[in-house]
Amino acid sequence: MATWLSDLAARIMPRASTTTRAIEPATLRDASALSALHRASFHRGWGTGEFEQMLSERNILAHRLRLGGHMAGFIISRIAADEAEILSVAIDAKYRGRGLSRDLLRTHLGYLAGHGLKTVFLEVEENNRPARALYERAGFQTVGHRERYYKDAGGEQLNALVMKRDLS
Ligand SMILES: CC(C)(COP(=O)(O)OP(=O)(O)OC[C@H]1O[C@@H](n2cnc3c(N)ncnc32)[C@H](O)[C@@H]1OP(=O)(O)O)[C@@H](O)C(=O)NCCC(=O)NCCS
Repeated sequence: MATWLSDLAARIMPRASTTTRAIEPATLRDASALSALHRASFHRGWGTGEFEQMLSERNILAHRLRLGGHMAGFIISRIAADEAEILSVAIDAKYRGRGLSRDLLRTHLGYLAGHGLKTVFLEVEENNRPARALYERAGFQTVGHRERYYKDAGGEQLNALVMKRDLS
C-alpha cells in the first residue's frame, strides 16, 4: 500500500491499525529507526550512534512499539541499583492520541518490576500535557521541580517536573 494510503487508513481506522501491534524489547538493530523517531519528536534529537551506545549498555532497557512493519514508538530507561529513570518515550505523531503510549509504558513498567526494581523516576517538561497525562494516569507523582531545565527550539527556557512511581 502507498505510504499516503496506509497513513490515511491508520487515521480513519485506528482499531484496524492497532490489531497488528507488537511491544517488544528493542535491540541494537533498531537504533536507526529509534533515532529517526526521536529526531522527529524532540528538539534535540538523538543520533543513531547515541542509540547504538545506549542499546549496547547492560543497564539500559528499551521497548519498541511496531504497528504492522512500522516502528511507531519506543520507551527507554536506565537502571541503577533498584531504581530506573525513564530517559525518553515517543509515539510517531501520526499514531498519537490513541492510547498507544499507555500500553507501551505499562509493558515497560511490568518489565522493570519483573527485574526487581523498586522505583522509577523521570523528568518531564511542565507544559507537556500529553506526557504529564500519560504519567499521572500511570500513577506517577510529582516530587520535584527543575527551573529552566530545558530549552525549546526558539531558545525559551522551560521548567521540568521530576516524577516518581513506586513499583512494589
Ligand atoms: C507523550 C506521548 C508519548 C503520548 O503518546 P500518545 O500515544 O499520543 O498518548 P495517549 O494517546 O496514550 O494519551 C496519553 C494521555 O495524554 C492525553 N493527551 C493526548 N494528546 C493530548 C493533547 N494534545 N493535549 C492534552 N492531553 C493529551 C490523552 O488524553 C491521555 O490522557 P488520559 O489517559 O487522561 O485520557 C506523545 O505525545 C509523544 O510522543 N510526544 C512527543 C515526545 C514527548 O513529548 N515525549 C515525552 C517526553 S517526557
